[in-house]
Amino acid sequence: MVHLGPKAPQHRKGTFSGVNEQLLAVIKEYEGLLTVSGEKLRQIVDHFVGELNKGLSKAGGNIPMIPGWVMEFPTGKEKGDYLAIDLGGTNLRVVLVKLGGDRTFDSTQSKYAIPAEIRTGTRDQLFDFIGDCLKKFVDEFFPDGVEGELPLGFTFSYPASQDKINQGVLQQWTKGFDIDDVEGHDVVPILQASIEKYNVPIQVVALINDTTGTLVSSMYTDPEAKLGLIFGTGVNGAYYDVTGDIPKLEGKLASDIPADSVMAINCEYGSFDNEHLVLPRTKYDIQIDKESPRPGKQSFEKMISGYYLGEVLRLILLELAEEKKLIFVNQDLSKLKKAYVWDASIPARIEEDPFENLSDTQDLIYGSVGIQTTSPERKVIRRLCELIGDRSARLSMCGIGAICKKRGYKTAHCAADGSVYNKYPDFKVRAARALREIFQWSDEVKEDPIIIVPAEDGSGVGAAVIAALTEQRLKKGLS
Ligand code: GLC
Repeated sequence: MVHLGPKAPQHRKGTFSGVNEQLLAVIKEYEGLLTVSGEKLRQIVDHFVGELNKGLSKAGGNIPMIPGWVMEFPTGKEKGDYLAIDLGGTNLRVVLVKLGGDRTFDSTQSKYAIPAEIRTGTRDQLFDFIGDCLKKFVDEFFPDGVEGELPLGFTFSYPASQDKINQGVLQQWTKGFDIDDVEGHDVVPILQASIEKYNVPIQVVALINDTTGTLVSSMYTDPEAKLGLIFGTGVNGAYYDVTGDIPKLEGKLASDIPADSVMAINCEYGSFDNEHLVLPRTKYDIQIDKESPRPGKQSFEKMISGYYLGEVLRLILLELAEEKKLIFVNQDLSKLKKAYVWDASIPARIEEDPFENLSDTQDLIYGSVGIQTTSPERKVIRRLCELIGDRSARLSMCGIGAICKKRGYKTAHCAADGSVYNKYPDFKVRAARALREIFQWSDEVKEDPIIIVPAEDGSGVGAAVIAALTEQRLKKGLS
């Protein structure tokens, strides 16, 4: 966890010795394009709060604000064995979670790489793949068979509408997935059918967004946790709201549910500002959107999440090389012209490269796109990565700022997970700095009252705790 306090260190920056005047001028230009001031962050947050509220209204808005049908806080006393699966961008994770009932848990997991062609393949390919992985997992960890059926929580990290906990109608694929015949369908019966096809004794009891899982698992172990966040391939957040403040739930709740009961909300705020009113979009963001499978959707996510960070870098370098002819002179650019040839690990590793001669950067760029770089070019690339990483971290904090302002949280642990949060260098420091600017804590505030903490394994433990809460509800005869 990063507590900056008022005297936070500045992020390290490279020097530009050997970089010519023309390139220096261009760097200034990119700094202007990609730097987001504290004032802009506050303006974005204010607009964001209104958009969260619109999403909860009957008419709805850009941000889906999906009720997750988790209607109680975890107490930490939840107990039992549960299976969880997490269909992420790159892996399918299957987890067996043993909740101890005393804020502790044990888990065993297997990861199965999702073959690239499945991301854009057919519905049967995807669900057969999941059924097959579940069969392998159960055969391995329950060699003597299973008594009855194992309850399973399905972490599905895409926007899915829910009228109950064991349902999820996919609104649209995000993060580069594009599989026909799933959008508009409830994925729970599709998964259950493939489980039956593979003859595995499993009952899907809950469908959970990864942010809701992160929220609930972190609350299971940390009573101060108030938000669950993912900064990874995609970006999103979840929190608990009060049912009386969710107008669009009217008529959907049983009449005996009091107005002050709680409901977990999966915001799906990756779609914030699809109207393009407030985010400082650049021409690179606009191009990424235009060439994506779902143009006009997920505007916020497309500027900041891991899926797009390498692509922003690629587009800028291509512009510098092809249009401005300032770098990579006489080099073959054909490999650099391939969209998404770089994921977020490329800018992340370039930022990790010690400054001396940026030799890792040289190897990375040559290895991935066959381009030989000069030392001044590498310094420019390094600076661009800093700008892209900083922009991502700062804008990412607007979601936290908006939820905390909306709910009036003066203090909070914001439980975060995801590859960008966990692996992108300096994300945590940059993010904490941006939060200070958003909330404008005075120098007298020595410890940041709202901090980001590493989440407990949301897609495993969260799914298990939610499955346990669901079982308790059903036992009490609640729907
Ligand atoms: C995308 C998905 C959302 C998920 C997020 C993080 O924004 O739409 O459901 O929570 O990625 O994985």
